[in-house]
Amino acid sequence: MPETAPLAAATEADIPALAALHAEAFPPDERWGATAITTMLRLEGGFGFLAEGAGFILARAVAGEAEILTLAVRPTARRQGLGARLLEAAVAEAARRGASALFLEVSEANGPARALYARAGAAEVGRRRRYYADGTDALVLRIGPEG
Ligand SMILES: CC(C)(COP(=O)(O)OP(=O)(O)OC[C@H]1O[C@@H](n2cnc3c(N)ncnc32)[C@H](O)[C@@H]1OP(=O)(O)O)[C@@H](O)C(=O)NCCC(=O)NCCS
Repeated sequence: MPETAPLAAATEADIPALAALHAEAFPPDERWGATAITTMLRLEGGFGFLAEGAGFILARAVAGEAEILTLAVRPTARRQGLGARLLEAAVAEAARRGASALFLEVSEANGPARALYARAGAAEVGRRRRYYADGTDALVLRIGPEG
């Protein structure tokens, strides 16, 4: 069950599973293949958490700041608290790695993700006009003590 599924640190051995989950969670033109996921996981300070067969988050923490790279929950596992748990795990890991603020980008049109981030206390700190291929803006959000 997604609400109780254990979270494990994502490793390179999980890349095929992460790519499969990403493909289920995002529309075809936003999917990351195994190559993109490998690149993200290998970024300096990169880390992630996986709930097997249900969802995952990738993030990085460098020089006191962190960012969410992607968050994906399989459609059949949604609205059971997993996205919030993955986000919480990434926020805690970022803090453990010395990052006091965590940034992320979300499409203005992505209601579910915006609701999830708002509940986690995210504040809007910027906007990137027409950032996505469909012409929608990206909102830059910040989670952290001052934001
Ligand atoms: C966004 C996403 C990760 C949320 O995952 P999830 O496991 O369903 O989220 P949760 O069950 O933890 O939801 C936590 C809270 O967020 C809000 N929320 C989540 N989905 C929502 C929706 N469809 N509509 C309204 N609010 C929603 C609610 O407040 C929810 O709490 P509640 O269920 O008690 O009301 C998931 O919908 C997803 O993978 N979407 C496609 C990929 C994506 O957009 N990723 C984020 C890119 S920035």
